[in-house]
Order: sequence, then structure tokens, then C-alpha cells
Amino acid sequence: MANKNIPFQTVLNQRLSRRNFLVASSTLVAAGAMSGCHFTQPQSADAAAPHLSFTELPQGLDKTLSVSPGYTPQVLIRWGDALFDGVDDFDPQNQTAERQAKQFGFNNDFIGFLPLPLGSQNSDHGLLTVNHEYTNATMMFPGSPKPAALDKAQTDVDIAAHGLSVIEIKKHDGQWQVVKNSPYTRRITPNTPMQMSGAAAGSDRLRTAISQDGVHTLGTYGNCAGGVTPWGTVLTGEENIDNMFAGDFSDSAEKENYERFGMEAKGRKSWASHYPRWDMSQQPNEPLHMGWIVEIDPYDPNSIPQKRTALGRFKHEGCNVFITKDQHVVAYTGDDQRFEYLYKFVSKNRYQPDDREANKQLLSEGTLHCARFHDDGTVTWLPLVYGQGPLTKANGFDSQGDVYLDARKAADLLGATPMDRPEDVEVNPANGKVYVMLTNNSERQDDQTDAVNPRANNRAGQIVELIAPNGDHTAERFNWEMLLLAGERNDPSTNYHPDTTENGWLACPDNCAFDQQGNLWIATDGAEKFGIADGIWACPVEGRERGLTKRFLRTPVGAELCGPFFTPNDKNLFCSIQHPGGKSTFENPLTRWPDFDDKMPPRPAVVVVTKNDDGVIGG
Ligand code: FEO
Ligand code: CA
Ligand code: CA
Repeated sequence: MANKNIPFQTVLNQRLSRRNFLVASSTLVAAGAMSGCHFTQPQSADAAAPHLSFTELPQGLDKTLSVSPGYTPQVLIRWGDALFDGVDDFDPQNQTAERQAKQFGFNNDFIGFLPLPLGSQNSDHGLLTVNHEYTNATMMFPGSPKPAALDKAQTDVDIAAHGLSVIEIKKHDGQWQVVKNSPYTRRITPNTPMQMSGAAAGSDRLRTAISQDGVHTLGTYGNCAGGVTPWGTVLTGEENIDNMFAGDFSDSAEKENYERFGMEAKGRKSWASHYPRWDMSQQPNEPLHMGWIVEIDPYDPNSIPQKRTALGRFKHEGCNVFITKDQHVVAYTGDDQRFEYLYKFVSKNRYQPDDREANKQLLSEGTLHCARFHDDGTVTWLPLVYGQGPLTKANGFDSQGDVYLDARKAADLLGATPMDRPEDVEVNPANGKVYVMLTNNSERQDDQTDAVNPRANNRAGQIVELIAPNGDHTAERFNWEMLLLAGERNDPSTNYHPDTTENGWLACPDNCAFDQQGNLWIATDGAEKFGIADGIWACPVEGRERGLTKRFLRTPVGAELCGPFFTPNDKNLFCSIQHPGGKSTFENPLTRWPDFDDKMPPRPAVVVVTKNDDGVIGG
């Protein structure tokens, strides 16, 4: 609808009239007005609008996991469960790296369900790929050692608990089972051989002890969220990779870059104490191998994961792709750090439904853009193209590869909008709009607010909706709306639907999923600081109940909820329960979920929720 050829006033009028016309649009932030941000009452009911009929779960905070009445959570797989035959039972008192490398890893985050066989829509049999984002040494090892104090054997366990797991799962008589030792079973770790692809591959800056050519590399870690592509691969985002490094980098050419990532000479973990690879004083370029989106083909256990440099280097939360009408691939990805940016990639080549191998190269070449939000409700996508505008030698860029390696700096120069920590960014399959989870930003000051990041000391986050003109996701200019300003129910800076109950408010949206009706399922990380458990809330995004959030699931104390993912038939909802017990101790944890066995610490686990009548979740 809006594009750069339409005068501003016309855009604004369209936007305002659409708001009045569209039922229950939740934003009133044009021109940055924060007051009056509360929900506009619907002008007309939309009989066809989706409705969520589940019974709302009360708020609360306790030792176990709870779901809406009429639904059942099944613990599918836990940290330490063996993925292969011949692996000893999990023994938290005597964990070894060898065993951990064949077991489910720690702190599961993103979950992708990929039906079997490839290309089918099977919802009863498939592959599950799961990120293991990070570890809590204090919850993993007897005696709760400090993360930086692990000895070599513990460090090897710690390293092996990172990366991803690929497992095969099947549903029999309503129960899901893990197929142990399946031909697809795979652990991907910080030591799995991988390759760099795209313009930064082979860069001199990527040459290290483990990569003589700047192309071959090892491993992935800090894997937060991700996405599944229409061609059946998984994208995983490398996020807080700074934690693994230590060592003096004050003389490095990458000093500014590393400081912005949060690297510290002192370090926070033990890896650099035992392996020079993670010691920046010895391997000053090693951190440049991290901070990418990695594409993995879980259907081929021998495939070499590819780091897609064309999607830029930063703290990727995740990545989700959308195929446009003209078959270009658009990928959305957020940089999850305070005041960092939102990005969009548009592929050079086109998706070919019948050529999977060609599709697997689509994310290697294209144009990366950063987002500049305007207070008039538009957002401009600015291309990160070497040689264009400020992205030249004068500003330190010698190639397109440099632009990808220094994507943050390039986006600074282009004038991207500093955001309140972009987490998941996903396209709603029902309406084609894009939803951006902005989790919080306690450091934003009053004089740094704008319409899309409207609150200083933003503790509870917001959800922003992006609307591509005529559904054209390649367009340079979109519109945006504020779907939700989260926080406590009675906080006047929130914009909840008037029918939101005392159980329907939420804080710190992190990951999300959509059902086929287009309802938004929101996973949170940080609600506990408001006295309620993290978990899942859901809301329609169209119609009279647009933005009416309802609580569906509560995590056990200390845990966040990540990676919600539906099977194609919407009858199974996979959820990651990450860090149950939070920051307590191995011997005296806040909960022993899910085993509730005095000999077992709490264990991060994947839960699958089904409806007791075998119906559609939420329906
Ligand atoms: Fe790993 Fe952005 O949370
Ligand atoms: Ca996250
Ligand atoms: Ca998180």
C-alpha cells in the first residue's frame, strides 16, 4: 500500500483510516504518542476471525509445569537422555564428555519439527532438531562449580553439551517416542566440521589455526532460536558467543567489534583455559567464525552445516524465511542485544519447488537490509551493499565480506533504528504479516525513546507487526503497528485488549509460533521478575480479539519457555523448558522437574503438548 512514491500525508491517512477500519488495531503510536496507547475498541465484529477456545490457565509460580485444562504435557526428551545405543544411563554424578556427546545436550532452545518422509506433511513422524543454547555449570555439576573454574574433563563435558541434537520421533497411540539410534540421529557440537558460505567465506580475517583457508571451520554454539526452511533445512542462530572467549584482545584489529559483542579478557567460561582456540590472545580471529546463521540439513546426517555469511554477523536470535510471490526468499533475523538492529535478507536467486539442492544455496547470495523505523508507522529497509553510500573503504570496508563481518557497523552508518532486543521474527502464514518480539531493554533512557521503542527502562518488551505492501516482502518500505506493549495488567504503559484477564498479561516476549489459523503463540523469558512463571500465551491477531492474550502454559520455577513449534496439523505443540531451577544449585535446586527424584538435578527438557480429545491445540 505505502511506498516511497506516496506522499507522507497520504501514507498517514491510509494508516489512520486503516486503523479505524480494521477491527481492534492495538496501536496508537503514530507521531510517537505514548498516551492513549490503550486498545481501540473494535468498529465491527469479524465473524470469521480466529478464536482461541482454550480455558485460560491462572498465573502462578511453582515447581512444576502446568497447561490449560484439557491438555496434557508429555516430557519427550531431557538433558542426558541417550540418543544412541550402547550409551550408559545418565549419571549426573559421573558425567563424561564421551557420554555427553551421545546424549541430549543442555538448555534446549529452538525446536524445529521436520516431517518424515521429506516433503510430506506428516504430523505423527518426523525429525526434531533442537538447539542447546548454553550451559549452567552450577546446575550441571556436583558442587556447583563456577563456570570459569571447570577442570579439563568438566570443560569437555560442558563443550559437548552445546550445539544441536537431531532426533527421530514417532507418535503411537497418542504418545510420542524418540527413536534411539535412528539413521538420522546426530549431535552437532562446537567441534563439528562446518563451512563458511557467502561473500565473507575465505576472507583473510577468517584465517585461524583451525581454518587455514577461512572457509572450513568447526562447530556452532550459543544457538538460540532458529527456523525451518520450505526446502527442509534448519537455520540456527549463534547468539551469545562472547561467553566462550577469554584473553587479551586489546591489540586486535577486531577490538571494537569484540567489545561490542561483550567479549571480556577475563572471560566467563573455562574453554579458553584449556583450549587456545578460545583464547583471543592466541587466536585473535577465532570469534569471527561465530555470530552467524548456520544452515543444517537434518535429513542428511552426513551433510556439512553451512554458515550463511550473507545474513550478517551479529548476535542472531534466529532466522525465519518466507517465499515471495515471485519466488524470492526473504529471511528475517534479529540481533538480540540492547540497541541492536532488525535485519531482512532478500535472495538473489529464486526458490524452485522441485530443486532442493539449488534451494539449499539460496541463502548464500542476496541483499541484506537493516530496518529504520519511522514514527509515522513506516519502516524502511536499507541495503548493506559494499560500495554503496557509506559502506566504502573510507569507512573501513574493503569488500562485501567485510560488510557481512561488520554488519553492525554497516547498519550504524546506514542509520538503522536501535531496538529493544529483537528476538524471534516470524511471518504469520495466515495473514503474511511479520511479527517481531522485542523482549526488553532496561537501559533505554527517556531521550532515546521513539514510536517503536516507546518506553524508557523497558522491562517487559513489546511485539511489533510489520506489513509488507501488497504482501511484497521484497519491498523497501513496509508499514508497522504496535501489536502489544507488555507488562503487568494495570501498568498504564501497556496496551492490552480490554478483555484481557488478570491471567492474560505477560512480560518479555522471546520466541513465537503461529497455528494455521494465524493465532500468535508467545513464549516468554523474564516474566518471573514480575512474580509469575514464564510460559506461553496466545492471541488472535485479527478480528475483535486481536491482541487478546490468554495464558496457556506455565514453566516450572526458574525456567524460561523457548522454541514453541507446531506440527503441520496443529495437534502437537513442542516446547523447550530451559534452565528449570534457574540460578540455584545442583544439590539444592528450586525444583527437581521433570524427574522429581532426589538423585536428579532439574533437567532442561522438551515437552510436547497435546489436546486430550486429540483436537487442534487452542481450537
Ligand atoms: Fe538466547 Fe535472545 O535469547
Ligand atoms: Ca531467545
Ligand atoms: Ca531466551
